[in-house]
Amino acid sequence: MRFLVINGPNLNFLGKRNPAIYGAETLEQINAYIQDSFKDDEIEFFQSNHEGSIIDTIQADSEKFDGLVINPGAYAHYSYAIHDALEACPIPVIEVHLSNIYKREAFRRISVTAPACSAVISGQGKKGYLLAIEKLKDLV
Ligand code: DQA
Repeated sequence: MRFLVINGPNLNFLGKRNPAIYGAETLEQINAYIQDSFKDDEIEFFQSNHEGSIIDTIQADSEKFDGLVINPGAYAHYSYAIHDALEACPIPVIEVHLSNIYKREAFRRISVTAPACSAVISGQGKKGYLLAIEKLKDLV
């Protein structure tokens, strides 16, 4: 099966950014861990710090995949535009957050993108991406 994994702003800084919250691994290491865990599947990875690029990718590429995993980063908390792109997405979508957003600052406890997703996995660290792909396999 084919899956697209999108990571939003500042996730390219994993490893340098707040390791006590997000862990010490880089995004490249996490992506390798995901691909190694699903050797029989084709997984494409996309990261951007720009809302428009994330929306362009959701619109243009989602039909080529069986499912989409997205960690919208801080866009989860205020991007109605990404919500609308996910809502229009023809394949199942699961939102992932490395940290438990419900245990952090008040502004992080709301995800405006989550209602456009089949599920949200929050607080499971990098394993959250694996759980999301496993669940997408059930859904498709
Ligand atoms: C995050 C949580 C967001 O609140 C934050 O802005 C991020 C990362 C997470 O993976 O835990 O950039 O999405």
